[in-house]
Amino acid sequence: MKYDFDKPIDRTGTHSVKCDAMPSGVPQDALSLWVADMDLPCAQPILDALHQRIDRKIFGYTLYENDELKDAVTGWYQRHFGWIIDKSDLFYSPGVVPAIAFLINCLTEEGDGIIIQRPVYYPFTDTIEANSRKVVNSPLLRSGNTYVMDFADLDEKFAEEKNKGMILCSPHNPVGRVWTEDELCKVVEIAKKYDKWIISDEIHSDLTRSNIVHTPLLKLAPEYSHRIIACTAPSKTFNLAGIQFSNIIIPNKEYQKKWNHFVSNRFSLGFCNPFGLTAILAAYTQGDDWLTQVKAYIDSNIQYIEAFVAEHLPKAQVINCQATYLVWIDLRGYCSDAKQLKTLMQKEAGLAFDEGYIFGEEGAGYERINVAAPRCIIEECMNRMKNAIEHYEKTGLPDPIKKTLPLHK
Ligand SMILES: Cc1ncc(COP(=O)(O)O)c(C=O)c1O
Repeated sequence: MKYDFDKPIDRTGTHSVKCDAMPSGVPQDALSLWVADMDLPCAQPILDALHQRIDRKIFGYTLYENDELKDAVTGWYQRHFGWIIDKSDLFYSPGVVPAIAFLINCLTEEGDGIIIQRPVYYPFTDTIEANSRKVVNSPLLRSGNTYVMDFADLDEKFAEEKNKGMILCSPHNPVGRVWTEDELCKVVEIAKKYDKWIISDEIHSDLTRSNIVHTPLLKLAPEYSHRIIACTAPSKTFNLAGIQFSNIIIPNKEYQKKWNHFVSNRFSLGFCNPFGLTAILAAYTQGDDWLTQVKAYIDSNIQYIEAFVAEHLPKAQVINCQATYLVWIDLRGYCSDAKQLKTLMQKEAGLAFDEGYIFGEEGAGYERINVAAPRCIIEECMNRMKNAIEHYEKTGLPDPIKKTLPLHK
């Protein structure tokens, strides 16, 4: 079937984080383009499967350990990436961020260092710190309208005894990079040199631009699989974040024991949600056609933004977005002060984005725009941004507004 992604869907009153819990200080009529879920309808086979499941009328304890599910998940990765996952290496977690928290506890001690590459998805920092571990930043380097890794710095950070491993964001949120095989090989080489683990967060791997292919780290480096854990999920891919279901691939049998002890025994997370199970089965077995259409729609929204910025906001730079539906835009040419930029976007333009600085100080002066929304919303967003920036260039911010928004999350 042909999906209609142009038609806005009212999400208010559904207790959605994105629409019903806007950041404080943002006007009620602001466009909500921050949290990473889509304002686009789910695939029809998922909706049908959920309706049919509801008709069974009972929603009791549900087994994750079943071949139907494991075949669907492993089948997806084999079909789309040529990645063969052993079913016994596949573990359930109610989310990738919870999985990262579990893994940090399984693999490290309090005070240990964990490498991340900022600007990066900020819950990495929150989770490391909340578990009393230390964030070790190896910042990405801006190169033209994209980013690259600083391998010399990464080597130095891995060399330190206290730093036990790295959380790799692949593809990277927010900078939109799909790492090349060459780059990933270098990361593995360095980790191998110092015998350190890598948690590869591949939650955005299905959402690459049409001509770009993601490389699963475990497929690339099978010889190092005992030190790699991959985290994937249907949540971003199929707009199912609320069903809280992710796929954690742990080839190392010792790590599997630790995971089972920590997750299944200590935290009693043995069963899964029946709606999640139903949705994921439908997604991974009947979701290809929807995904092809939604990717094309996201691609065209990104092209629209790139063309709009080139025509109307020449001092802004759209970072090349190879994956995700999150556009990372450099607005320092207009406003280098992150606090003023936040005020300008939220209060003046009425746009709720994820402010760049929350991804690390390297992101100050950038905004992250969620473009998985109907085109009319994206058009309205860009017009509001243009008008606010033009006004700001002429008059600056009025004084009372300058004082209203504190620079915190
Ligand atoms: C890189 C990355 N990891 C994890 C998540 C969230 O994962 P989950 O909702 O499964 O905890 C996100 C959400 O935006 C993300 O961008």
